[in-house]
Amino acid sequence: MVLFGGRSGEHGISCATAGGVLRAIDRDRYDVLAVGITPTGRWVLADDDPDRWAIRDGRLPVVEDTLTHVLLPQDAGERAVRVIEPGEVPRPLGDVDVVFPLLHGPFGEDGTLQGMLELADVRYVGAGVLASAVGMDKHMMKVVLTGAGLPVGPFVVVPPGAFVRDPEGQLERIRALGLPLFVKPARAGSSLGITRVDDLADLPAAIATASEHDPKVVVEAGIVGREIECGVLGGRGGARPRASLPGEIVVTGPEHAFYDFEAKYLDEGGVRLDAPADLPPDVVERVQDVAVAAFEAIGCEGLARVDMFVTPGGDVVVNEINTMPGFTPYSMYPRLWETSGVPYAALVDELLTLALE
Ligand code: DAL
Ligand code: MG
Repeated sequence: MVLFGGRSGEHGISCATAGGVLRAIDRDRYDVLAVGITPTGRWVLADDDPDRWAIRDGRLPVVEDTLTHVLLPQDAGERAVRVIEPGEVPRPLGDVDVVFPLLHGPFGEDGTLQGMLELADVRYVGAGVLASAVGMDKHMMKVVLTGAGLPVGPFVVVPPGAFVRDPEGQLERIRALGLPLFVKPARAGSSLGITRVDDLADLPAAIATASEHDPKVVVEAGIVGREIECGVLGGRGGARPRASLPGEIVVTGPEHAFYDFEAKYLDEGGVRLDAPADLPPDVVERVQDVAVAAFEAIGCEGLARVDMFVTPGGDVVVNEINTMPGFTPYSMYPRLWETSGVPYAALVDELLTLALE
């Protein structure tokens, strides 16, 4: 089951990711069932034609309700409940061998779906419940990475409602971080709800924007350094996970204050992805070591993209880990594996094979 869409703000990115996988997956080897989750959370049979899920003219694809509800039909009344026969093995997802949950953000990448799949006893690609939940929450992620001795940048957590209750108290904590600041919802992705703040007068609006995505807000000190990303693959069956060659996000023009949602998906100008990044061999090695250590620190499995800064002095600082990174053929994660000798289709196959182990 190729599963995509979902209830988070990254619905459209998930659909585009699914388009890439549906195009590359070996249909002789896998019997593909495409299932979309609508923005309101209904699971429907979806078109398995990759062209349906492309980003076109700056418009992101959307899963529409085809009225073919495949799980817990919400308006089926008593039909949603069936008592199984003695000896029958319950298969809540039917005869699905493995789920490829190509979902980004809350209700997909955050452990909730993974918990459901565990309960349903169905194998799935990628991180389990805890690693997904930790990877989604930028606060908990930093706590776990710090606990594992990994370098993260200075940050302040603004608990739900705290800024409204006590703006002065919060401001005092945040002021110590200096400028610029990056104000982020704790649990979101693709830079949704993130504001770069260069003047403290703009902080209340930035916190309000982030709070629309998550009542818990993380305020980070801006780090001076190159934005380097590294893919990690494996981590099942006792084998040590592998790191790809690192890549770099290079801001080339004034169009974007940072690598924001528009720059990521909708705008061609202003930002370039270099894969591989032009880094000295000793820095490549350090970046790869930190990426694998971050993957292991959160107990990740399958895949992750670890986003880091490399400071002018050559130090590596972890920005975050994404347990279901963007996965279109043009996304950083697959491109990094391509340059590291694992083409897109082989990557899809390896992830499914790992899940089925
Ligand atoms: N959250 C997006 C999809 C990423 O990490 O690539
Ligand atoms: Mg992220």
